[in-house]
Amino acid sequence: MKRTLITLGLATLLLGAFACERRDGGGPTGSTGDGSGIIKVGVYGDLSGQTSSFGESTRDGVRMAVDEINAAGGINGRKVEIVVEDDQGQPQQASTVVTKLINQDKVVAIIGEVASSNSLAAAPRAQEAKVPMITPSSTNPKVTQVGDYIFRVCFTDDFQGAVAAKFAVNTLKAKRAAILGDFNSDYSKGMTQYFEPEFTASGGQIVARQSYTQTDADFKGQLTNIRAANPDVIFVPGYYGQVGVIAKQAKELGITAPLLGGDGWDSPKLFELGGTALDGSYMVNHYSTDDPSPAVQKFVAAYKQKFGAVPDAIAALGYDAMNVLADAIRRAGGTDSAKLRDAIAATKGFPGVTGSININASRDAVKPAVVFELKDRKLVYKETIQPSGAATGAAPAASPAAAGSTAGASSPGTNANAPAAEGGAGGSSANTNTNAK
Ligand code: PHE
Repeated sequence: MKRTLITLGLATLLLGAFACERRDGGGPTGSTGDGSGIIKVGVYGDLSGQTSSFGESTRDGVRMAVDEINAAGGINGRKVEIVVEDDQGQPQQASTVVTKLINQDKVVAIIGEVASSNSLAAAPRAQEAKVPMITPSSTNPKVTQVGDYIFRVCFTDDFQGAVAAKFAVNTLKAKRAAILGDFNSDYSKGMTQYFEPEFTASGGQIVARQSYTQTDADFKGQLTNIRAANPDVIFVPGYYGQVGVIAKQAKELGITAPLLGGDGWDSPKLFELGGTALDGSYMVNHYSTDDPSPAVQKFVAAYKQKFGAVPDAIAALGYDAMNVLADAIRRAGGTDSAKLRDAIAATKGFPGVTGSININASRDAVKPAVVFELKDRKLVYKETIQPSGAATGAAPAASPAAAGSTAGASSPGTNANAPAAEGGAGGSSANTNTNAK
């Protein structure tokens, strides 16, 4: 044991020496905060595990922002370089790669993770080292509570879970809900925790609770129990890999109650797995590619051109996270960790493609959510729900930006700074999430 520790210690020393050498050879990095040299940003995510599309989309969204920033001359004249690490979707590995990004690569800030459990495992490493971390898309409230160096540019699950419950009650007119979640996942647990009280407070009843784990492939036992409880809606706060299969098996068992979920469903792979068995399901998400705002349309077109795919919400949030970071470095006048932290915390009205980004006192963004119906392997826009709770979305192809510019102007997180959308423009509200080019 002792010998292993010594060997490990030696290896760390050697790695550290190697990193220094590389740094010296490559000129000053941004980690000194001296305002010169390349700015190194760490990105971590799942590139090879159960949720690999999460990491891929994040990486591509960040990459697109970086390429644009560098093409425009960099940040205060300094070029940005990203170091991407694969954590295989494992919390322990997330913590390990973030330690590596900090100690070896000397990144000045970190973008990631997507899955809340992975962000929760890695955030303490960033906090201890005082390296600002921005999660683009982890929604569990606990993530930013890790400390004052941890931020997010997305909404949180207390809001998202309540949005799903309100939609079930008000739009689906559901009175009886079943829940099928992965109760090892902080995301699934959090969503359930916030869905339930909202649903029951509106007169609804939870008639079944069933759980699975991320490696399960057969959900028929749980679904059979759920069918026996005769729910009006089945809340599935999971990730796409299981949701697609659950939808198929639910159909096979003759279940007709709609499935309802959150952002965890979002992936180009969802329809590959679930196909039209997902028809009639509903999901809450961060943005719509049908948003007619010029900023969104420009982003979607540029992303398609570059990567040959429609950007999912994770890609859009990765893009926004990198741009928020760049804006903060610009305002901080460098990469000094304390100054950069303060600059990120002071982000107000930043025009992201996922809406206007205002970082609040809890280091979270307060933004509207979008609800989609799944139909024919597409996401069909249904409505936008503002943080104030107001639902908007009567207009065709309305969107976070469109809704924000016309309604709920006094609520936080509306898109006062986003380019104004033309009211009701664009007839089609189909969102071709699976299309390649
Ligand atoms: N919000 C999810 C979580 O916290 C991650 C996620 C975000 C998944 C966006 C898909 C799209 O775990």
